[in-house]
Amino acid sequence: KNFVGDKYSWSSPSNIALVKYWGKKKQQIPANPSISFTLDACKTTTTLTCSKKENNTDFSFEIFLDGEKKDDFKPKIQTFLERIEVYVPFLRDYHFVIDTKNTFPHSSGIASSASGMSALSLCLMSMEKALNPEISDEFFNQKASFLARLGSGSACRSIEGDLIVWGNHKEIPNSSDLFGVKYPFEVHENFKNYHDTILLVDKGEKQVSSTVGHNLMHNHPFAEQRFAQAHENLSKLVSIFKEGDLKSFIKIVESEALTLHGMMMTSMPYFILMKPNTLEIINKIWRFRQDTGLHICFTLDAGANVHILYPEKEAKEIYEFINNELVVYCQNGHYICDRIGFGAKKI
Ligand code: PMV
Repeated sequence: KNFVGDKYSWSSPSNIALVKYWGKKKQQIPANPSISFTLDACKTTTTLTCSKKENNTDFSFEIFLDGEKKDDFKPKIQTFLERIEVYVPFLRDYHFVIDTKNTFPHSSGIASSASGMSALSLCLMSMEKALNPEISDEFFNQKASFLARLGSGSACRSIEGDLIVWGNHKEIPNSSDLFGVKYPFEVHENFKNYHDTILLVDKGEKQVSSTVGHNLMHNHPFAEQRFAQAHENLSKLVSIFKEGDLKSFIKIVESEALTLHGMMMTSMPYFILMKPNTLEIINKIWRFRQDTGLHICFTLDAGANVHILYPEKEAKEIYEFINNELVVYCQNGHYICDRIGFGAKKI
């Protein structure tokens, strides 16, 4: 098959971890298992166009974000292509144009690596499917997740939805360090259509890249306890999801977020990635929860922005609270209303 002139397009979402992946071994193997909600509105759409290549042996590609050439993304893509080359044999045979756009603003402080790397991996899998039409959907998704992991670990949780586990865990059958799998057990309807409103507290460049962050877990004094805790928290979530136990869910999710930041505060070198407004928001959420009994909680990525998670049946009141009391803490009043989603889509 000659791919010259072919185009492949996928739209792939971001995800938000409930049990966090923080720390990795060689080849993007996670130090502990993680679980995430796939998001819906925050996504990247990528079109991969194949054209004829000059006669040389290097990878040949260009990247555009919203129509603008982005040479500063090249090293990351170069590393990705080097890592996946053994699994995707045609990479050196074409010149690739990678055209990408995000639904969320580029400088929003929302990482586009999960949605971006998963979208690109899916485009490459569409090429593989064109070569081997007989491959099953299951293989397609699994290998897309496997490739995405080699681009950015958490990206392997963005192929499908709505709850994805990545990393070996004794109670989750088929769980793997190599790719994400759908959470296989019963989930109570309390967790259906869960909301994630993302408050953009700080839209600046990340102070600590996730590569640096993961490396901080090597020789970290609390690493082993932390990895064991992630296993335990994932075990606890199994009955929580089944029973619909929102109170226990909140405890685990908030503790995971603070532990992630705790790991950064206790590493060498150490970092504080929260901003004063992050803490203002957390305190307001706690007060509101105490006053109303509603099941609002927060989680954090490796940055200052706050993800507010809440169930569909309480969405109206909680959204009003966010809008009236928390938006003042967002940079330029910016926030994103998202919810749990069902994975990537071919375009
Ligand atoms: O996928 P990476 O290497 O950018 O790591 C992301 C890590 C966290 O977002 C902080 C946690 C997670 O599990 O998504």
